[in-house]
Amino acid sequence: MSKTIIALSILNVNVFELDSVLKKAVKAKIDWLHFDMMDGYFVKNFSFSLNIMKQIKERYNIFIDTHLMITNPEYHAVQFANAGSNLVTFHFEACSYSEITHLLNEYSYTKKRIGIVLNINTKISQIYEYLPRLDVVVLMGVEPGKGGQKFNEKVLNKIVKLKEYIQKNNLKTLIEVDGGIKIKEARLCREAGADILVAGTFLTKSDNFSSDLLKLKGQ
Ligand code: DX5
Ligand code: ZN
Repeated sequence: MSKTIIALSILNVNVFELDSVLKKAVKAKIDWLHFDMMDGYFVKNFSFSLNIMKQIKERYNIFIDTHLMITNPEYHAVQFANAGSNLVTFHFEACSYSEITHLLNEYSYTKKRIGIVLNINTKISQIYEYLPRLDVVVLMGVEPGKGGQKFNEKVLNKIVKLKEYIQKNNLKTLIEVDGGIKIKEARLCREAGADILVAGTFLTKSDNFSSDLLKLKGQ
């Protein structure tokens, strides 16, 4: 089984502590930085700006996994890829069929990775037809819009079913789980078949960042 990728979400980090958290994460060899973008409409909250993502990329050159919690992601996904995101994921719930197809077509020229995000109550069968074109499917473990929420174990069965479908169809799509991940949740998600885990509050508030990072990886 390949090693679990951990993506650090900085959504809950105090802006005056952000650089020290990033330094600590890079020193601990975090795999990815999970960058949550919110427009106050798709989710009733705001977060960072594109410029902040660019500045972080310039300083740390870390793999950036940008999670678009925005309406009309088809207008912005390419922009985030061109600004330094290595992977851009957008919500199935924010798009219609034609918009998803248009986004995937446009985005393919960036040669960056692409993924679709599913909220807890969205069925995985809704995205089966797109899977061959997706590098990642993100399954939300919480309602999108804020960090520090409790993990909803309903997502575990979705991980199992999606993994079965991916393997049965010889696809390469990876499964990312986003929200509420601590040590026990990380183990449950790994056992269910998740490849990538997003950890925000648990890691950014940890006094033992490096050892907690390894525990999330099951090491
Ligand atoms: C929630 C975000 C998640 C969240 C993860 O809308 O998409 O990435 O910040 O943070 P924790 O681990 O605190 O749930
Ligand atoms: Zn996220």
